[in-house]
Amino acid sequence: MSNCAIELRNIVKRFGKVVANDGINLQINSGEILCLLGENGSGKTTLMNMLSGIYQPDEGEILKDGNVISIRSPRDAYSYGIGMIHQHYHLVDVFTAAQNIILGLEDEKMDLGAVNDKVKEICERYGFDIDPRKKIYDMSVSQKQTIEIVKQLYRGAEILILDEPTAVLTPQETDKLFAVLRNMKKDGKAIVLITHKLAEVMDVSDKVAILRKGKYIGTVNTKETNPQGLTDMMVGRAVTLNIDRPVFEKPEDKLVLRDVTVLDADGIPRLDHVSFTARTGEILGVAGIAGSGQKELLEAITGLQYVTKGSITFINDNGTPVELVGKTPMQIRQVGVGMGFVPEDRLGMGLVGSMGMTNNMMLRSWRQGKGVFFNRKNPENLANKVWEELEVVTPSTEFPVRRMSGGNIQKVLVGREIASRPPVLLTAYAVRGLDINTSYAIYNLLTREKMNGSAVMYVGEELDVLLELCDRILVLCGGKVSGIVDARKTTKEEIGFMMTTVGGLKGGEK
Ligand SMILES: Nc1ncnc2c1ncn2[C@@H]1O[C@H](COP(=O)(O)OP(=O)(O)OP(=O)(O)O)[C@@H](O)[C@H]1O
Ligand SMILES: [Mg+2]
Repeated sequence: MSNCAIELRNIVKRFGKVVANDGINLQINSGEILCLLGENGSGKTTLMNMLSGIYQPDEGEILKDGNVISIRSPRDAYSYGIGMIHQHYHLVDVFTAAQNIILGLEDEKMDLGAVNDKVKEICERYGFDIDPRKKIYDMSVSQKQTIEIVKQLYRGAEILILDEPTAVLTPQETDKLFAVLRNMKKDGKAIVLITHKLAEVMDVSDKVAILRKGKYIGTVNTKETNPQGLTDMMVGRAVTLNIDRPVFEKPEDKLVLRDVTVLDADGIPRLDHVSFTARTGEILGVAGIAGSGQKELLEAITGLQYVTKGSITFINDNGTPVELVGKTPMQIRQVGVGMGFVPEDRLGMGLVGSMGMTNNMMLRSWRQGKGVFFNRKNPENLANKVWEELEVVTPSTEFPVRRMSGGNIQKVLVGREIASRPPVLLTAYAVRGLDINTSYAIYNLLTREKMNGSAVMYVGEELDVLLELCDRILVLCGGKVSGIVDARKTTKEEIGFMMTTVGGLKGGEK
């Protein structure tokens, strides 16, 4: 067809014994948004890296305008009008937005005023909102991503590939990104979007191409499919997407926060008299707009934040209260408080990339001190358990985690935390970058830990999941507790309202 921007034919890519792409056919059209969908490790990033010049195919061909082309470097990719936004950005922190955009181009010799004008023109055309003179280190993740996209457009990208751009965005930022993508589509650009969130696929794409275990399954029109149909194609069998929510018989108080206040470097409260109780046998959800104090809350509990005022009390199995405020993270662990902590920042993720799963498990049990020393006995068992339960795609438990796909690395991280079975299990954004099937496996594991008597806290963004998974939901707004609601009785609207409004509501639980 005439609107075909680029075509892949029978592409094969191997890494040693691993066949990452096994005879893939794909057509990418101008004026369309194509979603690339597949489970963690199914070969999406690898395939797109062959269009961006990072890898070369072992077999097969890439066609542009009916001619076979070879893309040997990112520079070649630019010359064919292909630009890719990777999950890890390649920006220079101390440079301004404009300097980063022209980095490595002839335009570096150009007058910066002219560059700024050209950047402004791109921004106005597609609806980006950036300040070309701002330095990267002053920018949010979402702003950095915008710079990466503008950089590709500045270089004349006609085909834009985005690898899980929304994994790091808030729902509001995602909406903004999608508005820009729609403008680019109207302008005739070809867009490939990788995402695991099916609601996003349904919302923004025209077509969906599905990969399964390195193989190409097919391309469907978004209008003619639905989330269940897509999941079945992705997994290769019918899957049920629902969460069991059993009730625990005798919940007991496990972690009690009273008036916890945390100030930032400027003396502004990030947590403002936060009070609540987390109980055994319960998943306590934490909802809030990004930056409402979620990070500070988890850090305060784990001893990573200085608590100005208030108390955080852990209650031992025999009922003895242990005050955590004032203790270092190490001391908190030595008291026997086991905390499972999945960091918000996926990149600084507490794994050693060159080591395999087993050694990374060991790392965790050592760090946790005596509370869960039983883990140390058998990290190999632990690694095997995580491998099996979360279906980690890896040739062995010794395979360096750095070479796994993004989602599989995340599985190791989350799996390790859950498998260490701490009495208080804190998780933040645990399913970021995980495929739908694995996300449900994680929900089930958290529920299992809850039924084993853990006090689980789940910081998340997707309200649908919070409503289905949790027993109670604590809503943060500007560092204050906007309220705590029964997840079985509340609605999305009520939570949405509480996320943006404190007032009319008590500043915490009774
Ligand atoms: N440099 C490498 N060396 C060895 N194996 C690799 C390398 N890069 C990718 N692989 C393997 O290729 C397979 C596909 O990985 P890829 O990153 O393309 O998956 P993906 O579909 O992007 O997954 P995710 O959704 O988790 O990001 C995986 O099994 C991965 O371990
Ligand atoms: Mg990937």
